[in-house]
Order: sequence, then C-alpha cells, then structure tokens
Amino acid sequence: MTSSEIRQSFLDFFKANEHAIVPTTSLLPDSPNLLFTNAGMNQFVPCFLGEREALHPRVANTQKCIRAGGKHNDLEDVGFDTYHHTFFEMLGNWSFDDYFKKEAISWAWELLTEVWGFPKERLYVTVYNPGKGDPAEFDQEASDCWSEVFKAEGMDPEVHLLHGGKKDNFWMMGETGPCGPCSEIHMDLTVKGDSQGSLVNNDSPLCIEIWNLVFIQFNAAVDGSYRNLKTRHVDTGMGFERVAGIMASTSNFSDFSRPPSNYESDLFKTIFSSLSKMCGHSYGGSVPANRHDLTDEEMRDCAFRILADHIRTLCCAIADGILPGNEGRNYVLRRILRRAVLWGRRLDLDPGSFSQLVDPVLDTLGPVFPELREQRAIIRKVILAEESAFDRTIDRGIQLFEKELKSERTSYIGLKQKRIFSGRVAFKLYDTYGFPIDLTQIMAREHKIEVDMESFNNEMGKQVQRARKAQRKSAISVSEETSSMINKTEFVGYELSNLHNFEQEVQGIIKEDDHQWLYFSKTPFYAESGGQVGDTGTVVIDGKKLNILDTTKDSYGRFLHRIDSEIGKLESKTASLEVDYERRLAIQRHHSATHIL
Ligand code: SER
Repeated sequence: MTSSEIRQSFLDFFKANEHAIVPTTSLLPDSPNLLFTNAGMNQFVPCFLGEREALHPRVANTQKCIRAGGKHNDLEDVGFDTYHHTFFEMLGNWSFDDYFKKEAISWAWELLTEVWGFPKERLYVTVYNPGKGDPAEFDQEASDCWSEVFKAEGMDPEVHLLHGGKKDNFWMMGETGPCGPCSEIHMDLTVKGDSQGSLVNNDSPLCIEIWNLVFIQFNAAVDGSYRNLKTRHVDTGMGFERVAGIMASTSNFSDFSRPPSNYESDLFKTIFSSLSKMCGHSYGGSVPANRHDLTDEEMRDCAFRILADHIRTLCCAIADGILPGNEGRNYVLRRILRRAVLWGRRLDLDPGSFSQLVDPVLDTLGPVFPELREQRAIIRKVILAEESAFDRTIDRGIQLFEKELKSERTSYIGLKQKRIFSGRVAFKLYDTYGFPIDLTQIMAREHKIEVDMESFNNEMGKQVQRARKAQRKSAISVSEETSSMINKTEFVGYELSNLHNFEQEVQGIIKEDDHQWLYFSKTPFYAESGGQVGDTGTVVIDGKKLNILDTTKDSYGRFLHRIDSEIGKLESKTASLEVDYERRLAIQRHHSATHIL
C-alpha cells in the first residue's frame, strides 16, 4: 500500500465504524504548557475534562505533530535511527464517554491484521502494570480483552501479552492533565520474526511500537495526584510513518530480509531524489553502529534522513504560522533548521539548498494539508532567508572550531592524558553558532579528539539555570495545599466598561525574590501572550494606590499583576483595578502593524 492508501484506509475503517472524521489542528497548540502540538489528543483535552462537549462521541483523524522539546522530544535521535521524527502524522481514533477498551482493542486488531494483513504472530502488546509508587492499578480489563483476542486467534497470551510500568504504559501529555493506562502494539521486524517479545521496549529498530491505545481515566493535578475523571475515554495514536515504512520495507509483509525503515516509504522518496540530484549521492539506508564515529556512507545517510525529516518539520510549522526565531518554540525551530543546514554541509550542498527541498515536501503533504500549498511562497521565503543568514554564521563557527583544534588542551580521559576539545568552546558553538553538540562531537572525532562533555554539560546546566531565573515570573511555585485548587483567571478586558474601577477580591499574593504579584478570579488586564505585552495600570487596595507594572500568565492560567510596592496583611481583600487604556491602544496598534508586516 502507498502512504496515501494507508492514511485513507485508516480513516475509512473508522468512518465505517461510525466515527466522524475531523481535520488536523494547527501545530501551534492551545495549551500554554506545550511547545508544539505533540499528539492527536491535544485538541480534545477539554472534552476529556468535561469542560467542552465533544461534537461527536467518536472521531478519527490524521494529526500533524512535532516532538522536538518538552516531555516528548525525539530531536536527538532523528537521523541516527530510522523510526524517530521531529514531524510526523499521528493517525488516531477517539471515544468520548462512548466505547472503551474492548472495542478499541478489537478494532485495532481487526484493522492491522484483517484489513492491512500484518502478520499476527509478529505482534506483541503491552498492558499497564504499575511499579512501586506508580498511579492506578494493574489494567485487568485491557489484559482480559487482549487475552480474548489472542485465544480466539489460537495465539498464546503468555507470549504475546507483556506488562509495562508508568514509563511505557501510562500516557500523559505533559506533567498534568488527562491521562491513563495504555496498551501499546509492537511489531517484531527481525528476519525470522522469532524474538518472542524479548525486544519489546528495548530500543531495538527490529521491534517498534506502532500504535498506542490510551484509556483516559484520570486527571493529573499539579500536586502530583491522579483523580478519577467522571467519564472515561479512548485516545489512540498510530505512528503513520512507521506503518508506511514497515509496509514499504517488507514489500507488504512478504520480505523481512531488509532492515525496516520509515524512510523507505514514499513519503520521503521525492525529498531523497531531490537531495540526490543536489549532492550526487544516493541514499544507502545505512544506520551507524556508533553515532559518534561514522563511516562516510553512514554520515551521508544520516544527513539524508536529517534533512528529509527537518524540512517536513519546517514546512509544516511555518505553514501554521510558527516561524524560526529567538525564543521558545521559534527558537526550537531555528535550531532544527540549523541542524539541517549543518548536516547539509556534510553532503557538500551549496548554500540555499535546504530551501529547495520545500517543493518535494509540498508535493507529498500538500494534498493532505492544503495550508501547505496556500503558504508555499512564505515557506520558501522564510527558509531561504533563515538559511542564508545561518550560512554566514557557519563559517565563523567553523573558524572557531578550527582554532580550538589547534589549541593544546589536554585532560585525563579514563587513565590516559589526551588532547581534548574544550567543552566551553563546544558550548559556544552550540549556543552562539547553532552547532548541535552531536555534530561537534563527530567533527572532533574526525580529528581524533574527544569533546570534554563534562564541561559542555556543565555550561549547559548553567544556561538552564539562567533561563529558569529569567522565566521565573511565568513559573512561580505554589504551596502544596493550594496547588490543587488553582483556578484559571477569566479575562474580562475586552469589555471597555471593565477597564475602569473594576472591583474584585484579591485571590492571592505571590512573593518571590524582590517581586510581588496579585491575582484575581477575573481581570480586565491583558496578560502578555501571542507577542503582545501585558497591560499596566493601577490597583487600589486597602485605601492604597499601587502601580501595576506588568501582567503575565503563569502555567496554571492565572494572570499575575506585578505591583511596585510591598503589601503586608490586607485589612480588606477588595481591590479596584484600572487599566492604562491609552497604553493598551498604542500596544494594539503596534501589534497589528507588526502582524501586517
Ligand atoms: N496520546 C497517545 C500518544 O500520543 C495516543 O494517542 O501516544
């Protein structure tokens, strides 16, 4: 089957089982805690929590996802293996308080084995069995459903049904929110298919997870507790590129002699052939045994995979309005682009080559995600501009690299004193010039020198500390007993009458370092977001007028009003809020003008 046929067949199958097919959402997530949309279920979080009614009790779709930061981050693996991606499509089906484990499991089995013809004896499933301190109980219900399926097939559940703890079999989108035990389906891709489940969850490319069936039953709170949800839901996610890769590598399950690879699927073919034309090499499919020490062929194949993966990520993110930049998700995107451009140098690609891969991506994904075609010109322009700017930086980075090579630094590695490549310089290359550390290590190894990773990690740790400090305003800690009761602030500041003398009870005061913040259950103050700075103004409290210097949102959705002077114990909690409206209007004008530009 081609990748388009697989995608369509998935959607048709669930449509026939009374699911409404819904479109993908943008890669720009609604949730303030996510860098990118990282799972099909992101858009349904309010439905799971009972905050919004689902439009249909059963839905299915293909969802654009990026996993390149935060809890689910695959960036470092991309290129070095054949089944991780920064951008991928997740095929999923959902039930909102409708069907549950039995149906989800039997449909998954039916689609894989009956409709698509996956060899049954090569499939292994896992169910949740909590370890010490893990939430919830052994997932007996899922275990029983799977046992029934295997017995009906004449297969031994003792062999095909495995257990996993919280790490592998309890799915959470982030640290908080809807979550639950999950059952993963893995495929044995060894030549003989005789691994007997021994490779499941062993980081082996010869046994990979293809589908995750999550049973949403709990809500994880900020205090670390897991509360039962009033209703139970199903959230499944299939790795589309993995399924397409398996079918392509095995010629639809008829030949397991070649190593399986997502990059064998037609999704990557046109990108690879453009790359081949540009560099004069073809993709050979080799995978490095040691990722720091690559043969020429392995280097080229890693570069092919990295460029092909990263160009898809860049195109899809830019089409959704996420541009490379200096902060947060925009910075992650810039790093991904730089990683690709640097690896492109390993293929001796000319400057500007990366942006030439836009068209092949649009040829494959454009028919599925029309926004890509609509934004074609912008995508090309942004990538070319970003790539050209970086090309100028690379040469300076390489000069710094070569200067360091000539230095005589030595250190003890194990028992021997050896020449080393300074970790601080490697960090500077990473931080200032955008050189990913894996590439610096490879380049250093080519000169038979090790990067001092201890000192690199040390520098990285210091930077993380600095970033944490700088972001403290948006990650203010709350005490144990109150954290579970935190409510989001409601913004009422579009209503002009609320901007003047708006009365509210103070809900809380946060003090940290030299700053103090007030928060309320409703506020007319706009909190910094979407690139628009927060409102300023005044608050009268206990007969005292204080200035509000800034308004930001924290990760719990509270609007924090930073005040200019210390407040002690309050006689009265009633406050009167006043927004500086002139300033708001000026900011809005700037904000709109920036968007127009
Ligand atoms: N949310 C689960 C995952 O992303 C299943 O869709 O794996």
